[in-house]
Amino acid sequence: MSVVDDIEAKKDITRDELQYLLEGNEGEYLRQRAVAVRKAVYGQEVFIRGLIEFTNFCKNNCYYCGIRRDNRQASRYRLTAEEILDCCQNGYELGFRTFVLQGGEDEYFTDDRLCRIISSIKSNHPDCAITLSIGEKDRASYQRYFEAGAERYLLRHETADEAHYRKLHPREMSLQHRKECLYALKEIGYQVGAGFMTGSPGQTVDTLHEDLQFLRELKPHMVGIGPFIPQHDTPFGNEPGGTAAMTLTLLSIIRLLLPNVLLPATTALGTIDPVGREKGLRAGANVVMPNLSPKAVRKKYALYDAKICTGEEAAECIVCLKNRVKNAGYNIVCDRGDYRNRGIENV
Ligand code: SAM
Ligand code: FES
Repeated sequence: MSVVDDIEAKKDITRDELQYLLEGNEGEYLRQRAVAVRKAVYGQEVFIRGLIEFTNFCKNNCYYCGIRRDNRQASRYRLTAEEILDCCQNGYELGFRTFVLQGGEDEYFTDDRLCRIISSIKSNHPDCAITLSIGEKDRASYQRYFEAGAERYLLRHETADEAHYRKLHPREMSLQHRKECLYALKEIGYQVGAGFMTGSPGQTVDTLHEDLQFLRELKPHMVGIGPFIPQHDTPFGNEPGGTAAMTLTLLSIIRLLLPNVLLPATTALGTIDPVGREKGLRAGANVVMPNLSPKAVRKKYALYDAKICTGEEAAECIVCLKNRVKNAGYNIVCDRGDYRNRGIENV
């Protein structure tokens, strides 16, 4: 039995099997099996999410992130409630039925403010899903957002290894709290997304293996992975970035471990390779998240250098995106794109 068949059958992977696949062994077969599994659950459909980067203020200081609080070079902005609602309206007309509100941890956006925004989006667009990606909050806050109408939450765990987590974040943050947040979100009833950067400083086969084991344990509905890309005004500005090859291998492995998972071909992957997102779709991904933020602020949400944020990345170029996805052999569908649990059980 090949290693790929073995991990598909047992929906688990050993550290040595991971190393073997990351070295490129059985690469084409791995990709083919990931595509077959994705097809069994989601057919040829690709879900789109309209990403609204509504604030780049952040109280955190993650060493890798271009909008960390100590980056004095970042030009800070926050969108008004009206601007956020306009983005949604624009997105709705373009065919989006999911909006992802992402931002730094910005205390200006109190729970009251956020709940008002969530309820307004919901009342304008009852047929749409709202995803939040606004970091670590109290359980009570998560509960309030859920009751206001948010149904999904993206919170990458970043790394499941304690020592690696401490290399990526200052002491004021903790892996334990991040994990607690993810479990609380799941208990409340959100569709939850975890994930990590590939090639982040200090990442090893062992830490990646811990990431995959954590994902198997958490069983998230979505997994966001993309390459680490250095941002020149951060402490990791001179570190090497992650590669497309490694990201694609991990996308395929995750598809085999969690067959039903929603798996985005991320902007970061599209940034380091002009056809990275198409390659992601051909490696088992089934989601793309074009940018719906107002053009004037897109460059300011600079998590990393050379982020794609105009042209075909942008939501307004949905026609180009549809063509690109079609060329990759898939079809963009205009619906909420909920998680499916079709026959294949996640272990
Ligand atoms: N504040 C929220 C949070 O912490 O989840 C959401 C915003 S945060 C900028 C979204 C994600 O961007 C992070 O989870 C991280 O994985 C990714 N990110 C940050 N800096 C990056 C970089 N230099 N390269 C690639 N991805 C990066
Ligand atoms: Fe807060 Fe990156 S440090 S969003």
